[in-house]
Amino acid sequence: MAEFRDERRGSIEVWTIDGEERRNAISRALLAEFEERVARVSRGPETRAVVLTGAGERAFCAGADLKERASMSDAEVRAFLAQLNRTLRAMERSDCIFVAAVNGAAFGGGTELALACDFRVMAPTAELGLTEVRLGIIPGGGGTQRLPRLVGAARAKDLILTGRRVNAAEALAFGLVQRLAPEGRLLEVAVSLAEHVAANAPLAVAAAKHAIDEGLGLVLDEALAVEQRHYETVLGSEDRLEGLAAFAEKRPPVFRGR
Ligand code: COA
Repeated sequence: MAEFRDERRGSIEVWTIDGEERRNAISRALLAEFEERVARVSRGPETRAVVLTGAGERAFCAGADLKERASMSDAEVRAFLAQLNRTLRAMERSDCIFVAAVNGAAFGGGTELALACDFRVMAPTAELGLTEVRLGIIPGGGGTQRLPRLVGAARAKDLILTGRRVNAAEALAFGLVQRLAPEGRLLEVAVSLAEHVAANAPLAVAAAKHAIDEGLGLVLDEALAVEQRHYETVLGSEDRLEGLAAFAEKRPPVFRGR
């Protein structure tokens, strides 16, 4: 059975986790399908961005499926985490842009899913939290590493060591999310952000994404070398010439991803 509902809007795909009755928790079946989906959109140029959201109004994703987890062996939990981490890295390495439209509670793995996206847009009533220590575990899907990279170590400790939940206003103040959507307009805001990015040159967007992600954590000189390496991928592109021609001719550019 499909674990997601799909909608295509031009070059944007909207994936809705279809598990409202378990608050869109990540089961093994869901994770397997998610990994395949990320691989599919990363293979081809058709989909420029994916907006990821959850069914219903209560949850974006309540993290790992704790009912399923209760009957899993340690080895099975390790395998689950390995697949989750592989999939989240694949999102980051993808040329496709991922936008989390956080429609409700996003706890544990739900927040980690959002953290691996390029953008996070939040509904006013949604909440985020890395609540794992309350359950006797720690974040295992990259939360202890991605959150401090995003908001700094002090804020990450404030959230992870307390396991507390943050509302939309605090998430925005922390820089944990980039946009708050007005009531009832979450998908509209998320899709519009995705379209804004997708209107730009495909090779340039991908190169800029990877330059930012790969440079984080490097010393400045190495990071600047990363930027130059990615600049090379756009320097010889047709789209760069199109950008210059369109500027000279005072018309919008038509990018072809070449
Ligand atoms: N795994 C499996 N099932 C889950 C789940 C999870 N992570 N989170 C919620 N559910 C299930 C509940 O067990 C309940 O099932 P039931 O109807 O068979 O009893 C159903 O979803 C609805 O949950 P409920 O708590 O009544 O919904 P709510 O809308 O009041 O609250 C949450 C939603 C997400 C705030 C709340 O369910 C919650 O805090 N879940 C745990 C999240 C968590 O700690 N995740 C971290 C994992 S590391």
